[in-house]
Amino acid sequence: MAGNFFLLLLLLAVVLFHAAIGVEASLDHSIVGYSPEDLDSEEQLFNLFQSWLHKHEKSYESVLEMHHRFRIFKDNLRYINSHNVQQKTSYWLGLNNLADLTHEEFKARYFGILPPRVKRFRRTENFMYSNVHAPPSLDWRAKGAVTPVKDQGNCGSCWAFSAIGSVEGINAIETGNLISLSEQQLVDCDDNNSGCNGGLMDNAFNYIMENGGVDTEADYPYKGTDDSCQQNKNAVSINSYQDVPVNNETALLQAASKQPISVTIEASGQDFQLYAGGVFTGSCGTDLDHGVLVVGYGASSGLKYWIVKNSWGAGWGQKGYIFMERLGAKNVNGICGINMDPSYPIKTGPNPHSAAYALASRLGGHQEASSWAFF
Ligand SMILES: *[C@@H]1O[C@H](CO)[C@@H](O)[C@H](O)[C@H]1NC(C)=O
Ligand SMILES: *[C@@H]1O[C@H](CO)[C@@H](O)[C@H](O)[C@H]1NC(C)=O
Repeated sequence: MAGNFFLLLLLLAVVLFHAAIGVEASLDHSIVGYSPEDLDSEEQLFNLFQSWLHKHEKSYESVLEMHHRFRIFKDNLRYINSHNVQQKTSYWLGLNNLADLTHEEFKARYFGILPPRVKRFRRTENFMYSNVHAPPSLDWRAKGAVTPVKDQGNCGSCWAFSAIGSVEGINAIETGNLISLSEQQLVDCDDNNSGCNGGLMDNAFNYIMENGGVDTEADYPYKGTDDSCQQNKNAVSINSYQDVPVNNETALLQAASKQPISVTIEASGQDFQLYAGGVFTGSCGTDLDHGVLVVGYGASSGLKYWIVKNSWGAGWGQKGYIFMERLGAKNVNGICGINMDPSYPIKTGPNPHSAAYALASRLGGHQEASSWAFF
């Protein structure tokens, strides 16, 4: 009986899989990463897998592993296609760089927001943007305040990428210089966070403040593993940081109109794993498990959205980004809890280097080399 039932399910799955073919002729291959014909035979599926491997520069240790991954890839493709053939969807799933991971593997791999019991250095008083009138749309990428998409790898350091992203943003806005900064320094040196085991952005801001700054990506590059704290110099400093009033989309919009904002979301759903483009409308809950960066907002065909920078490489989502619906009054928590815990660094003074340099020049025309010795 159980065996028959299983067979029936299998048959149904196969029928559904193939019934889907042909409906979605309008799917854009460049977004979803496959064409309907690719699903026609095992051979075509294998060819698709091969070109996917090439595109995402993947290789496996053994033939056995490759076949194992091919099976997962096909399962994911089935899931992806069953989503994409729906008549009403504002977003697409696709064969992104995570398409060879099972959902369980994905969940075990990327998440690093510490649970609420962990000490947080919150700063909730005097929200400085409460009187701001936010324009209807804005993109900090176009204003030169966002570095290229990075990849946290197999390490729960999303919090470091989110925090560094908003520090890069406010530094670019205040100084005119977009400088890629060091997540690894936070992973190695911030003792109030837990490196690859997770952290909180407010704690990271607190570290950068107390440390007097954070080093550049070039000087303290990312490794994606826990290590001891290395020598570092304070290339970019912040003066303070603040929490955006929680569960208040208006406040988040006001803040995001002034600088990129660190936010936490629930990102462990399968649709999030395989997201490829369009305005993401869920499904997701509010178990905050991932730190990302709001770098703008806008609206398209009736849907308002946030522009969100992720840290899973440019092969995920829309060149590394996800557009997430702005729910307005429909839900105070925001999509995937995006309104629940936003924060941002405050920068009112120059960077240590520029101060040291100015001092060095004032003291009698030292060359740049000597001023670098200050840190
Ligand atoms: C949301 O925050 C703004 C300040 O930015 C405030 O004026 C407004 O009252 C807040 N709304 C709610 C519902 O708390
Ligand atoms: C780390 O936590 C301790 C204890 O709460 C605090 O005194 C210290 O200032 C924090 N350090 C940083 C760098 O955030």
